[in-house]
Amino acid sequence: MPCPGDSYAQMSYRAKPDDGVAFVTGASSGIGRATALELLRRGYRIAVTARRKGALESLAATAPEKIFPFPADVTDATAVAETVLRIEETIGPIALAFLNAGVFFPAERTRFDVALIARTHAINVGGTVNCLAPLLDVMLARGRGQIAINASLAGYNGLPGGVAYGSSKAALIHMAESLALTYGERGLRVQVLCHGFVHTPMTDQEKDFAMALCIEADAAAKIICDGFEKRGFEIAFPWQLAALSKFARILPYPLRFRLISALVRDAERKAAANTDVRTGG
Ligand SMILES: NC(=O)c1ccc[n+]([C@@H]2O[C@H](COP(=O)([O-])OP(=O)(O)OC[C@H]3O[C@@H](n4cnc5c(N)ncnc54)[C@H](OP(=O)(O)O)[C@@H]3O)[C@@H](O)[C@H]2O)c1
Repeated sequence: MPCPGDSYAQMSYRAKPDDGVAFVTGASSGIGRATALELLRRGYRIAVTARRKGALESLAATAPEKIFPFPADVTDATAVAETVLRIEETIGPIALAFLNAGVFFPAERTRFDVALIARTHAINVGGTVNCLAPLLDVMLARGRGQIAINASLAGYNGLPGGVAYGSSKAALIHMAESLALTYGERGLRVQVLCHGFVHTPMTDQEKDFAMALCIEADAAAKIICDGFEKRGFEIAFPWQLAALSKFARILPYPLRFRLISALVRDAERKAAANTDVRTGG
C-alpha cells in the first residue's frame, strides 16, 4: 500500500508509444542500436544519438519516418541540451529516455591511468548527467516521463582491474536510486539496468576474460524493452550473474574478495585456454 510521500510507490508511470518519442543514447552500435530497433518494433518513434553520424544515419535509413538521427557527444553539455530541445520541438515530447552511451577502455586492466579514468567517468557519468539535466526539465514540467540508465553488474562490487569502469557504473547505480527517490512522486519513473555480458563492439575488445553467459545484443534489447514495460526499478540479467553479484555484495569483505578473486581468476584461465586452442599454443 503506498504511503503519502512514498516516491518509490508512486513511480508507476510507464511510457507508451502514444505518449511521445523514445530517446536512445549510444545508439550507433551494440545495445543502444539493438534497443532502438526493438523500440521501433514496439511502435515507438525514436531519436537516436551518439558521435558517429554515419552509423546513426544508416540506422535511421532502416526506418526513415520512425528513427531520427541526432549526432552529439554526451560530454558536451550544451550540445546535449540543444539536442533534447530539438527533439522535443521537431519530433515530439520525449516519453522514454534510455541513457546508454558508455565506454570501457581495456587498458585500465594493466595500469592506473589518470587520463583514462577521467575520460571513462566523463563519458559514463558526466555524459549521463548532461542528458539528465535537460530531460528532467522537460519531463518534470509535464509531470511524467521514464528514464532508464544503463549501469552494469560491474557496478555492484569492486573488481580487479576495474577501477575506472566499475566505479563509474557504481556511481550510476547510486545516482539512479537517488533520482528515483527524489523524483518518483513528481511523475518520473527512473530505472537502472544492471546486466551482464552482451556481445557488442565493447566486448569484442575483451581478450583476457572469458565472458560467462554472454548474449547477443538483439536478445538483450528484448529483455531491456520488456523491463521498460514492466513495474520495477531494476532491470537485471542474466539472473544467475545478477544473483551472484548481489550475493557477493552482502558477504563480509574477506569472503567477498576471496569469491570475486576466484571468479575473475577462473575467467582469465578460461580466456587463456581459449586463446591457446585458437592459436594452437
Ligand atoms: N556489452 C556489455 O557486456 C555490457 C555490459 C554491461 C553494461 N554495458 C553498458 O552498455 C552500454 C552500451 O555498450 P555496448 O556494449 O553496446 O558498447 P558499444 O557498442 O561500444 O556502444 C557504446 C555506445 O556509446 C556511444 N558513445 C561512447 N562515447 C560517447 C560519447 N562521448 N558521446 C556519445 N555517445 C558515446 C558509442 O557511440 P559513438 O562511438 O558513435 O559515440 C556507442 O553507440 C554502455 O554503457 C556499457 O557500459 C555493456
